[in-house]
Amino acid sequence: MSEGAEGSSTSLSGKVALVTGAARGIGVEIVRELASRGAHVIVAARDVQSAEKVASALREQGSQASALKLDVTSDADLKAAAEAIGAAHGKLDILINNAGILLDSPDGGTPAPLQPSVALPNVVRETFEVNFFAPVFLTQLLIPLLKRSDAPRVVNVSSIRGSLAHLSDPASPVYPVRALGYDTSKAALNAFTILIAEELRGTPIKINAIHPGWVKTTMGGDQAPVTVQDGALTAVKYATLGEDGPTGGFFFLDERLPW
Ligand SMILES: NC(=O)c1ccc[n+]([C@@H]2O[C@H](COP(=O)([O-])OP(=O)(O)OC[C@H]3O[C@@H](n4cnc5c(N)ncnc54)[C@H](OP(=O)(O)O)[C@@H]3O)[C@@H](O)[C@H]2O)c1
Repeated sequence: MSEGAEGSSTSLSGKVALVTGAARGIGVEIVRELASRGAHVIVAARDVQSAEKVASALREQGSQASALKLDVTSDADLKAAAEAIGAAHGKLDILINNAGILLDSPDGGTPAPLQPSVALPNVVRETFEVNFFAPVFLTQLLIPLLKRSDAPRVVNVSSIRGSLAHLSDPASPVYPVRALGYDTSKAALNAFTILIAEELRGTPIKINAIHPGWVKTTMGGDQAPVTVQDGALTAVKYATLGEDGPTGGFFFLDERLPW
């Protein structure tokens, strides 16, 4: 484990973690890992029954978990989530903005069918609602609860596709695919990460953006080389950073990625 990380054996007992889009894909593996280390995980999903299924399975294994209905594009759900977490726990230690969509292409491994010059306005707008506006507004609403934690950590699940350095580098594996909505929404999420981390530098809150790898999920597709379990590793690592860990960075495992 690199400098700054608490280590995989560190107990998260007493910590409360909220993960969006947690009923499937990378999100469900993140909650499983955090719960196995002793955190109370709030499994948030727009379909509360799916969230409850994950939460009840975790409780049956002896973990602490609760389900929360959270469509991240709903202002009412965002506000209700902050109120419910405040009422139930009085604080939040870990926020993982994981929910995301890729509408430009049905498979992250194939070129988007529409080039940026003709990308559909509704695709770009809808993508920004989930991938950018939602994490911004949810984080804003939860900052008061995060400030009540001893060691608050926020992880924005971004993508190497949000790296301007990679998008403009013909040698980068992401270069041939031009997914306008997805790529620009993740670049905006990266910019938000920088701005909010700089605002909060000097406070205990650490906020980082991460790339999970190219992961075998509905979004990543069957060709993806990374298992969904391994796809959760980077998010968990930056959600459990020690006091000497970084803030305002962009990472894949131990590697610092270029913006
Ligand atoms: N897979 C990859 O290769 C890869 C690579 C780079 C970055 N990422 C990022 O990793 C994150 C997780 O992706 P994944 O691979 O696990 O994708 P996924 O299997 O398609 O899962 C996406 C998750 O986002 C949730 N979601 C979508 N819209 C939502 C909304 N309006 N409100 C609440 N939840 C919503 C989904 O919930 P529902 O079940 O309700 O649809 C689902 O839980 C995303 O931010 C993605 O951009 C993935």
